[in-house]
Amino acid sequence: MRVFVTGATGWVGSAVVRELVEAGHQVIGLVRSAQGVEKLVAAGARSLVGSLEDVERLREGASEADAVIPFHAIGETGVALKDIAGAISRSLGLPLVSLSPDEATEHFGWFAPFAAIDAPATSDRTRALLGWTPEHAGLLADLTQSGYFSIGSATSSH
Ligand SMILES: NC(=O)c1ccc[n+]([C@@H]2O[C@H](COP(=O)([O-])OP(=O)(O)OC[C@H]3O[C@@H](n4cnc5c(N)ncnc54)[C@H](OP(=O)(O)O)[C@@H]3O)[C@@H](O)[C@H]2O)c1
Repeated sequence: MRVFVTGATGWVGSAVVRELVEAGHQVIGLVRSAQGVEKLVAAGARSLVGSLEDVERLREGASEADAVIPFHAIGETGVALKDIAGAISRSLGLPLVSLSPDEATEHFGWFAPFAAIDAPATSDRTRALLGWTPEHAGLLADLTQSGYFSIGSATSSH
């Protein structure tokens, strides 16, 4: 499969590019510097030079690909981590447990501050820039209804 990845040189994106390439996919990564091009080539991917503000470049990358992994956009505003945990819990039949801040620090380790942050993101600017309206199921519906947790049948639309 040909996959267009934005944020391909970043912390998350570079790990995803590595896994895609290792799995035999052809990856086209959006980059905005010569170092970015070098990094992608070293990872076994192709680069498309441009920025997230360059709509034509994004169209070009997406039109060449069978799938797009955008590390810059979210569909909905402020989905609470507790609701995501609830959806996972219901889907997998696992108990949902409330923890005190101290217990959460012990359980999550380095991730604890991120789990506790109240920082809702929004796609308002992305929607305005690209004229984009999400059409598929939202995050919680996707987690619970799309077979997301079915072994061997990952059909998530996120
Ligand atoms: N890291 C996490 O734990 C975490 C958790 C939840 C959500 N996220 C979200 O996931 C996304 C990626 O996170 P990350 O930690 O991988 O970030 P990161 O390491 O800072 O990487 C950001 C990536 O986006 C690219 N980029 C930034 N602005 C751009 C622009 N205007 N045009 C084109 N490319 C641009 C960067 O390219 P350059 O190499 O050219 O700078 C880089 O490849 C972010 O939206 C972040 O909010 C991250």
